[in-house]
Amino acid sequence: MAFNLLKGKRGIIFGALDPNSIAWKTAERVHEEGGIFVLSNAPIAMRMGQIKDLAAQTNSEIIAADATSEEDLKNLISKSVELLGGKLDFILHSIGMSVNVRKGRAYTDEKYDFTAKGWDVSALSFHKVMQSLYKADAMNEWGSIVALTYMAAQRTFPDYNDMADNKAYLESVARSFGYFYGKEKNVRVNTISQSPTATTAGQGVKGFDGFISYAEKMSPLGNATAEDCANYTITLFSDLTKKVTMQNLFHDGGFSNTGVSQEIIEKFSN
Ligand SMILES: NC(=O)c1ccc[n+]([C@@H]2O[C@H](COP(=O)([O-])OP(=O)(O)OC[C@H]3O[C@@H](n4cnc5c(N)ncnc54)[C@H](O)[C@@H]3O)[C@@H](O)[C@H]2O)c1
Repeated sequence: MAFNLLKGKRGIIFGALDPNSIAWKTAERVHEEGGIFVLSNAPIAMRMGQIKDLAAQTNSEIIAADATSEEDLKNLISKSVELLGGKLDFILHSIGMSVNVRKGRAYTDEKYDFTAKGWDVSALSFHKVMQSLYKADAMNEWGSIVALTYMAAQRTFPDYNDMADNKAYLESVARSFGYFYGKEKNVRVNTISQSPTATTAGQGVKGFDGFISYAEKMSPLGNATAEDCANYTITLFSDLTKKVTMQNLFHDGGFSNTGVSQEIIEKFSN
């Protein structure tokens, strides 16, 4: 069902790799709600992914940008404003990658240049995106910026590895930049802390199948899917949430506030 919530709004959506990506589902929903946007991803993902199909489906242009490159971001932002015909109203940062996870390094055996690269891609890139937008004065008043995160920023999930630290940094950047962007431009900045979701990035986490089933049984409403996340993001891009900023918003079917569920008790009862 569409509500025209984003009619007349323009934005940039980072991170749609394939139809499982949370950003892919979000682009589809933004399109349904009347928003127009540029799709962006790292140059390498352009070659591997299916982003062209999504662009055709949503009448959008694609502009490649490595989110760690200030030069790429500057180019992306100026071209997007030009293509879309004005300043931007919404941004989705849906980017994450840990080299330590990819290379199978344990948290207690990090290779620090891998750690630095993963932090730059997954966490500092959010600051770089916002600083680039801010300096270019590319956001409209009452615009909305959202990044995706995971609860490992607050609680330990051993196999989430150094991504836990990256997410803690990302959430802090949302609060800190949210202050300045709110004060000066009435732009809001939030993170959505999403349930485990079967995507390329999600499945990179060791033991993901057990992890997602456990979360399902621990969440009174069940895990939030990528489609559910897209719907939630639409509300944050809309004018219905103008005073929500600097928040880390749990979107996890109740997982984060559940101590234990009946299903888990039953599993461990004799
Ligand atoms: N899948 C989950 O279980 C889950 C749960 C909570 C939060 N998240 C977060 O959601 C976001 C999206 O991930 P997803 O699960 O949709 O997986 P995904 O693999 O589909 O998306 C990750 C994206 O990051 C992009 N990316 C990597 N390096 C980049 C760079 N240098 N510049 C620009 N883009 C780059 C990839 O190309 C890809 O499109 C991530 O921040 C992830 O941590 C995922």
